Amino acid sequence: MHITHVVGARPNFMKVAPVFRALREYSTVRQTVVHTGQHYDFNMSDVFFQELGIGAPDVNLQVGSGSHAQQTANIMRRFEPIVLEDKPDLVLVYGDVNSTVAAALVCSKLMVDIGHVEAGLRSFDRTMPEEINRLVTDQLCNLLFTPSEDADQNLIQEGVLREKIHFVGNVMIDTLVRMLPSVEARIPGDLPERFALLTLHRPSNVDDLRWLADMLCALAEFSTELPILFPVHPRTRDRIAKLGLNGALAHLGLLEPLPYLDFLALQTRATVVITDSGGIQEETTYLGKQCLTVRENTERPITVEMGTNTLIGRDVNRLRAELHRIIAGERKTAHVPPFWDGHASERIASIVVH
Ligand code: UD1
Repeated sequence: MHITHVVGARPNFMKVAPVFRALREYSTVRQTVVHTGQHYDFNMSDVFFQELGIGAPDVNLQVGSGSHAQQTANIMRRFEPIVLEDKPDLVLVYGDVNSTVAAALVCSKLMVDIGHVEAGLRSFDRTMPEEINRLVTDQLCNLLFTPSEDADQNLIQEGVLREKIHFVGNVMIDTLVRMLPSVEARIPGDLPERFALLTLHRPSNVDDLRWLADMLCALAEFSTELPILFPVHPRTRDRIAKLGLNGALAHLGLLEPLPYLDFLALQTRATVVITDSGGIQEETTYLGKQCLTVRENTERPITVEMGTNTLIGRDVNRLRAELHRIIAGERKTAHVPPFWDGHASERIASIVVH
């Protein structure tokens, strides 16, 4: 059985690693990893392959950046000949990035079976490019592997046949569970005892320059009460430079994007994490760390209902108030959702093979 994995952007790499590893246990399975090249900087890509121990991808399509249409079309054009030549029995796609939907479109037209890892998540906000990617991908797939039961319900409501849906749990947490024992060595010696960890990269936050400036200036002011460490995504760094804010943000600890283990190490020690990422909402819930999500909605509602996540929308006053609540010692208690147990990938591998 030949399985091709397609990945392209940073959050995909933590998801493919455990599935690749679990499938390696089956001698009947041959695997190929195709990297679309959507992310290409060393810090956004290669370092993850090194740390996660899955070796270099077999193929890199080197599509690079572009508009949504350009990027999606370039992936499709370059991926199609590979599918035609390799004739895989199954293509696995991950998450909700442009690489995910592009590969699913190619395979569905060639009538090659597709499995979606992290299927069924919905923010119900079609202004998010990822929501479009999620909706289209799930309609095209033959196997849908969901991380939580709300995702099953979303798929059923969209008319997806029950027998295609498999509730397996969260593969991102598989990677976290495996890597957690290695983070101690990555804790910086000069780390403050209490600090906030900040990440921002969603277009809804960083492409609205007025809002971005308001939020970052408020956080820079707050950092006199609680130090803030801020690994900056390339898209966000570009917007900060455009705003001429580098000087005003001198108090924020601006860092380059971090490798997986270094970022996880900081999460384990942070007093609070402020983010607009999807995966970080999940990781903080697993770690029991307070998470403030600077978004109006989330495709991962279980992190709010069961976990440590609080949605604060686009409201600087609310952000300040929640931060003060947390530094005063108030905590949202949480439970780890079902099947976020480090074994989701083994369930996927077993379903795929059998
Ligand atoms: C993409 C995903 C998003 C995911 C995020 C994780 C889509 C639609 N979006 O967003 O869901 O949460 O990845 O990081 O697929 N750039 C670099 N170096 C790189 C990669 C990007 O400098 O290695 C810069 C380029 O200027 C590029 C911009 O970042 O134009 C945005 O990159 P892109 O892949 O289009 O989207 P992300 O914002 O990273």
